[in-house]
Amino acid sequence: MLQDEINKLKKKKDVIILAHNYQLPEVQDVADMIGDSLKLAQYASRVKNKIILFCGVHFMAETAAIINPKKKVLIPDLEAGCSLSNSITIDELKTWKKKHPDAITVGYINTTAEIKTELDYCCTSSNAINIVNSIPKDREILFLPDMFLGSYIARLTHRQNMFIWAGECHVHAGIRSKDISQKLNQLSNSELLIHPECSCTTPILYDLSAGDYDDHEVKVLSTEGMMNRAKNSTSKQFVVATETGILYKLRKQNPNKTFIPASKNAECQYMKMITAEKVYKSLMEEEYEVKISPDISNKARLPIIRMLSMK
Ligand code: 13P
Ligand code: SF4
Repeated sequence: MLQDEINKLKKKKDVIILAHNYQLPEVQDVADMIGDSLKLAQYASRVKNKIILFCGVHFMAETAAIINPKKKVLIPDLEAGCSLSNSITIDELKTWKKKHPDAITVGYINTTAEIKTELDYCCTSSNAINIVNSIPKDREILFLPDMFLGSYIARLTHRQNMFIWAGECHVHAGIRSKDISQKLNQLSNSELLIHPECSCTTPILYDLSAGDYDDHEVKVLSTEGMMNRAKNSTSKQFVVATETGILYKLRKQNPNKTFIPASKNAECQYMKMITAEKVYKSLMEEEYEVKISPDISNKARLPIIRMLSMK
């Protein structure tokens, strides 16, 4: 069986497999650690194995390589990109920074290594509020590249001086308020778990403050936050507004609870490029190594380390 062959190779070559919560079930089943971007970056910073095989999209494997300059980091498909990380170029960022020379630049982990060389802080959906709150109130912030996460953070932190890049993830931008309200209207007593990258996060929060969802719990969370909430909540039924790959682990860990996707179409084709077959090939051939020039890697490490050292 492919799974047994993968496990044998992992042992023989001293490889650890890290996988994102959106990965295909067949990939999650061979992973040593599954999590959101923060958990995986934290874990990658402590790995003892010789090789890290990263099952996720390219910026995630790149982050693991930046914090492990002496280790071999592999990704089973180099084409596994991210529409959000493609939504800002280095020239656009440099021009933006020139217009706000005193601003602190906070960038989502969904950015390329080159973009990270220009950041003061990196953040993820789990810690963006803490990172923004740690910056003095009188300093301007440039937040990039996700406009929906940015607007949500600005609203929660009450920052008036936060400038937000107009980037988006095509998967989360496609989950509409209408998809969610329809589901919630059909399913009384269900809890809503919503990722802050969704285009409807802020509208939902407005509806919530107007009392529209009074009979539903609503939680805005990272993918790992959703895993934890599902385990600890007393609710039995959840509407899940994020990429559908998360449903596999939610259902596996909570067999007595029901999870309904807000939109069945919310599928990230980049995450799905990684298959068990490609994982096997990647282990066999030790390909594709994530290579970053030392100059870029050294500069990109700073905002990541700043993020990882924050509580
Ligand atoms: P998480 O850090 O919440 O897992 O999000 C990463 C991502 O790419 C969401 O689309
Ligand atoms: Fe990027 Fe969106 Fe895919 Fe996440 S779901 S990896 S943000 S394209």
